[in-house]
Amino acid sequence: MRKSFVVALVLLAVVLGGAWAQGKMIGVAMPTQSLQRWNQDGSNMKTQLEAKGYKVQLQYANNDVNTQVQQLENMVTQGCKVLVIASIDGSALSSVLKEAKDHKITVIAYDRLIMNTPDVDYYATFDNFKVGVIQGQYIEKALNLKMAKGPLNIELFAGSPDDNNATFFNKGAMSILQPYIDKGVLVVPSGQTAFTTIAIPAWTSATAQARMDNLITANYANGKKLDVVLSPNDSLAIGIVASLKNNGYGTAAKPFPVLTGQDCDKANVKAIIAGQQSMSIFKDTRTLAKQVVDMVDAVMSGKTVPTNDTKTYNNTVKVVPSFLCDPVFADVNNYKALLIDTGYYKASDLQ
Ligand code: GAL
Repeated sequence: MRKSFVVALVLLAVVLGGAWAQGKMIGVAMPTQSLQRWNQDGSNMKTQLEAKGYKVQLQYANNDVNTQVQQLENMVTQGCKVLVIASIDGSALSSVLKEAKDHKITVIAYDRLIMNTPDVDYYATFDNFKVGVIQGQYIEKALNLKMAKGPLNIELFAGSPDDNNATFFNKGAMSILQPYIDKGVLVVPSGQTAFTTIAIPAWTSATAQARMDNLITANYANGKKLDVVLSPNDSLAIGIVASLKNNGYGTAAKPFPVLTGQDCDKANVKAIIAGQQSMSIFKDTRTLAKQVVDMVDAVMSGKTVPTNDTKTYNNTVKVVPSFLCDPVFADVNNYKALLIDTGYYKASDLQ
């Protein structure tokens, strides 16, 4: 084969994806396909990594911890160079990550921090505390809390207790809402505010729906008005909307309360358009995937791995160097510009 042709081939590989990438295996472990966003996260990363010449092992674990550990063990034995992991239970991976480290594999925590181990190298996510702050500020503005005398009735939900993000979302939102609860402008008729009480395991819609049913039966039967519900993400919000509908909300006499969310799942954007949900945090999964692909590339080419936060995320063993992307919110006023004009969704996806 003529020398110039081989040189051209190598140059092409360098342009498209570094020679260091060609044929190298990257393991991508996602928690589940039953929550919409992880499908997008996984396919975005696979597409972007393969475009650079990497081979990709993409696995979903059906929200089952043992399955995820098994999948990671396979990725280690099959020679993956880097593992990108969105953990189900952030504290259940210490032993398999030790194996990964013994094989000199680099580990990047994706969206959710991996806890209680020295064997995680980097973390890429959205600013999780800011997610909560934006949800709190949305409620503050929607109910004009700065001017309101109250009492306005609020009920609180939190995410899965095995997900480190859930505490950041909750702390962010409560950093805005707690002062109003302290002043009596906001009141929690159920009295349920402790994270362990309001947390919903595995982010399950049905569990959130059942809890909302119980809260309404126990605290709102006498016509007390529910003004707002803090929901940390969309899978919970869709369960809460179902409960509200079943309990007669959505009429002039009983309007839907202000309701927050996260992930801009299609079903929830439709609920926003229908006035059943107020907002959802938009975390463009293409942006996070790109950030992680850049981190993988830096690792594989021996360059400095891009991070922008080396203080916040302590996994109890070490502070993990992180890259935080910026979250924003979508509501009925801006969802078209944010989700359709950017090609995240087609207009038909939201009809
Ligand atoms: C969190 C993630 C959220 C939401 C939730 C449920 O870790 O940051 O965006 O998707 O899990 O999957």
